[in-house]
Amino acid sequence: MKAVAVFPKERVLRVIDDVPEPRIEKPTQVRVRTLEVGLCGTDQEIARFQYGTPPEGAKYLILGHEALGEVVEVGEGVKGLEPGDLVVPRVRRPCPRAECRPCREGRPDFCLSGAYTERGIQKAHGFMAEQFVEEVAWLHRVPKGLRKVAVLTEPLTIGEKALQELEHIQARLPWGREGKTPLHAVVLGAGPVGLLGAMALRRAGFATTVYSYSRPPDERSALVDMVGGRYLSSQDVAPGDLEARAGAVDAVYEATGASKFSFDVLGALGPNGIFIFTGVPGRKEPLQLEGGTLMKSLVLKNQVVLGTVNAGPDAFEAALTDLQAFTERWPGALERLITTRYPLEAVPEALAGKSDGIKRIVHFG
Ligand code: BGC
Repeated sequence: MKAVAVFPKERVLRVIDDVPEPRIEKPTQVRVRTLEVGLCGTDQEIARFQYGTPPEGAKYLILGHEALGEVVEVGEGVKGLEPGDLVVPRVRRPCPRAECRPCREGRPDFCLSGAYTERGIQKAHGFMAEQFVEEVAWLHRVPKGLRKVAVLTEPLTIGEKALQELEHIQARLPWGREGKTPLHAVVLGAGPVGLLGAMALRRAGFATTVYSYSRPPDERSALVDMVGGRYLSSQDVAPGDLEARAGAVDAVYEATGASKFSFDVLGALGPNGIFIFTGVPGRKEPLQLEGGTLMKSLVLKNQVVLGTVNAGPDAFEAALTDLQAFTERWPGALERLITTRYPLEAVPEALAGKSDGIKRIVHFG
């Protein structure tokens, strides 16, 4: 079967057509026909040989971690899934260490050892192949009505996990979330992770500002308008003017990977505010920070800075519930987010070039 693979040693990304079709080897496994796979910044970094590792002993890594597929066969021990069902897989798999409690309890997104694998990213082949086999425990059944948009589940789970963390942290305040309503969230970046996060924040009741580079009006700012958010360009409004323009910032959901920009906005975080980093920066050169000012503000304003990566089963279920809700509340918005569709053969060129549009999707026949 065909797949898109990166050969890091040879520095090549290409379509290969001699991958053996995967077979069910355990009663708890499921064979899935791939329908769609999303492309993201992580894939782009892997395609540029800056990130990602092939499985132990393999020359190549099959890409793809944002997948939607259709079940074609289930092992005899599989309950709750049958051929024809739509599924989305989670990305990270547990490390082998007995002492890693998160991995032993099925939460490798909080792995302690760092020896986890990630399908399509770290030491495990991904889903950008015509078929894949997966343990049923790592699959989520998708309602048929979400067929057109469920490929957005995984990028939305980043925001869902962030929201869950945010709620836990807000609960530290004596009055929980009730002290100020609505709370004001600023989303950094208007890429798919940012826009999906903005939708989740809006649905959770936050007044939401999306703060990004490009100047409105464009397709991104139109989507923000559509979901009842406010869009501001960093070319028009400096981080120091955010509060005056949009109100005190109670939470920041960072979805850019841009470290300088992010730390500038950290300086604009309001009292009791929570700043959540999700981006993995490409920057290698040092960044100068006003350490004393930031530390003073963190202390005098009771602020929290948090990083979050990957997502567990609860975030995947929340994402599927939210996709359904977004479809009902803002018809057509999710479809507008998917701006480009490629066949498998076009992926190497697409990942080599500049990314245009918002979300790019690979479709399989
Ligand atoms: C993926 C996560 C993954 C992270 C780090 C992201 O693009 O969505 O699942 O944990 O990269 O590899």
